[in-house]
Amino acid sequence: MHVSRAHFGRMPDGQPVDRITLEAPDGVSLSAITYGATITALTVPDRDGRPGDVVLGHDTLDGYLHASPYFGAVVGRYAGRIAHARFTLDGREHRLAANDGPHTLHGGRRGFDKVLWTAEAARTDTEARVTFTYRSPDGEEGFPGTLDVRVTYTLDTAGRIGIAYEAVTDRATPVNLTQHTYFNLAGAGDILGHELTIPATRFVPVDATIIPTGALRPVAGTPFDFTAAHAVGARIDAADPQLRAAGGYDHAWALEAPGDERAIAARVRDPGSGRTLEVRTTAPALQFYAGNFLDGSITGKRGQRYGRRAGLCLETQQFADGPNQPAFPSCILRPGERWRSRTWWTFATDRTGPR
Ligand code: GLA
Repeated sequence: MHVSRAHFGRMPDGQPVDRITLEAPDGVSLSAITYGATITALTVPDRDGRPGDVVLGHDTLDGYLHASPYFGAVVGRYAGRIAHARFTLDGREHRLAANDGPHTLHGGRRGFDKVLWTAEAARTDTEARVTFTYRSPDGEEGFPGTLDVRVTYTLDTAGRIGIAYEAVTDRATPVNLTQHTYFNLAGAGDILGHELTIPATRFVPVDATIIPTGALRPVAGTPFDFTAAHAVGARIDAADPQLRAAGGYDHAWALEAPGDERAIAARVRDPGSGRTLEVRTTAPALQFYAGNFLDGSITGKRGQRYGRRAGLCLETQQFADGPNQPAFPSCILRPGERWRSRTWWTFATDRTGPR
């Protein structure tokens, strides 16, 4: 296992941003920067052993600062939307920064994806890791309590990637941390041919502004049924009110075995390259976003223009708008408790089978 660290750029105020790269002997590598704890590159072999970068992003810090719809970033303090930028907790109303029409999306105007984290890297014979830490001040973007956050990316000799989140607070606050990597297992083009399996039988319908209605709806008989593999593009433009509302897939699935990190939350296969990805998690929900808002206006790594649906996100998380949704599991972290969540990404190819 190998770990290296290099200068990546400077923040507008002059603070340096570093890039940490973890490498496994079998050609899997992951790079992440201290801005947003952002995963900037993830290289995995295709079925013929050729390595390729399977995540969207930028070559330079400038791209991340000015043209990034959360490419590869950690999102928080609360991933997903909070309706009308407010919630009531323990009898007190909190008002948040609104950055998605009237709503708060992904932590507000300056969420965890836009702050500088501290990084510490380490390696053993079997694992390389980098731990990012960030202290979110009391009142940041309107959220109560000082929140200390820690996110660790690990890469092991089997080429498996782990993402572990931890947070503690000094006042009760909602917490929902996830990873917003856009995958494209082909390394270019769109993801409409990627075959997706989500073995969950219920999803979260949303209103016209992508706020959950609060219900869980069976996927059976709808374009949301991925219990058997379907190409992402096969039904994405179907005349379904839920797909219309969100411009494609941008919904959460309620996982069947919340907390069981052995269960598969999602599986993706790119028939062209043979690359496969399995996602496992302790989180209760999986937000599948099909990159509907990408529109060709962003030019990313190696001069690639990211057109509509050039990448897909599989965000393991709590339910969106949790603080306002009594029917959803509690997302409130209290002093003395430790918020924990873990996700695993396992890459393989359809020739090698699981690595
Ligand atoms: C999440 C949201 C989407 C979109 C993307 C980033 O997945 O649910 O609606 O905001 O992030 O553009």
